[in-house]
Parts: sequence; C-alpha cells; structure tokens
Amino acid sequence: MSKSIAIDGPAGAGKSTIAKKVSANLGFIYLDTGAMYRAVALKAISSGMDTKSQADLAKLIKDIDISISHENNIQKIFLDGIDVSESIRTPEVSSGASAVAVFREVRLKMVDLQRKIASDRDVVMDGRDIGSYVLPNADLKIFLTAAADERARRRFEELMQKGQKVSFDEVKSDMAARDSNDSSRSFAPLVRTSDAIEVDSTSMTIDEVVDRIMYFYNNYC
Ligand code: C5P
Repeated sequence: MSKSIAIDGPAGAGKSTIAKKVSANLGFIYLDTGAMYRAVALKAISSGMDTKSQADLAKLIKDIDISISHENNIQKIFLDGIDVSESIRTPEVSSGASAVAVFREVRLKMVDLQRKIASDRDVVMDGRDIGSYVLPNADLKIFLTAAADERARRRFEELMQKGQKVSFDEVKSDMAARDSNDSSRSFAPLVRTSDAIEVDSTSMTIDEVVDRIMYFYNNYC
C-alpha cells in the first residue's frame, strides 16, 4: 500500500516549500496540485477564453493534455506536451486558476490524474481539497495556515525575486479573493477536516514546520 501525506491550506501558507522538503526527507514524490489548475487557466487565457465561463471550460477540459514529471524531486508540468512550469507562475494565471477551479468538470479531471499518480507511489500532495476529497484516507493530513499579512509578504517577496512588478496590496487582495473563492465554492472547497492537524506557520521557520510534520509522521503513521 502506498503512503500519502496531504497538505492543504490557503494561498501563500508555504505548502509547496514544505511539501517539497518533507517529500525529499521521506523519499516520496511531491505533487503540487495547484500547478494543474494553473495549467488549465493558462490554456484558457492563451486560447482567449473566459476563465469564468463553465461552457468554455467544459469544452477546453475535454481534450487537454496535462502531464507531470518528477526528476530529482523537481516537479515539471507539461501542457499539451510543452513545459509550462515557469509560465504558470504569474498573478494573472493565479486568479485564472482560482476561477477555473470552481468547475466540477475541471476538478474531476484533475482529481482523476492526482489519484492515479498517488495510486502506486508514496506521495506528499499539496492543494486545497487533498485531505477532504482527493485522498480522504491519507496517512497524515496537515492544514497549513499563516496570518494573511505574513502570507502576502512571503508571496510578494517571491514575485519580486522573479522580477514581477506587483504591489504588496495587490498581492494581498488577490490572495484574499482566491481564498474566499476557494472556501466558498460548492464542489470540493478549501476546508480543514476534523482529522487534519493544523500548523500555523506565521512565526515558524521553514525547518521548524518541516520538523513538526516529520515528528507527526514518524510518531503517528
Ligand atoms: O496552490 P496554488 O496557489 O498554486 O493554486 C492555484 C489555485 O488553484 C488556487 O487558488 C485554487 O483555486 C486552485 N486549487 C484548487 N485545488 C487544489 C489546488 C489548487 O482549487 N487542490
């Protein structure tokens, strides 16, 4: 039986950074599910579609080809055969991802892919609905949070380092909009399940968060 750790939480809580490190420590693969919704949004935006149109998205999702590769614990995501790992990291794609992720048709296709990947490999998966919907029997469920200002600060610094021109206030309001969209959608929303352990990373270092998760895994799984 393959093992799985689900890490869910709002935008900018540090899920990907933490999930990458935990998976490297355990020799598991790391799956960033947000990248999949981003790839769908990228395709919709570059095809001139409205990311809020259910009809457009239902059409687009039918023959989209999203695949993932894992080499040296680095995830790459391919959209219709092209590596889009970098081009999905723009603020426009972030908002688009949150819009397309509302639709059941989109989610079912992504969830199917996510479950296939986890079916025969040990995995640390991060997202919004991993513990609640994708892998309800995950061996360990973490709900990773941080104060809104701290999450916005971290994301702002990340975008500045990549040379993207955005203001702190824009990042903060974009994040709040995404969190509210993710928490209020009717199908597989962002929720903390009763069996998930909440970790608030506001005043913790990355290594402290990783150590805490390793402690939970080593003692309870
Ligand atoms: O994690 P990341 O910020 O890259 O995710 C981008 C968007 O994709 C989120 O704002 C959310 O709307 C959506 N998402 C989701 N379910 C997941 C992962 C991401 O709805 N499991």
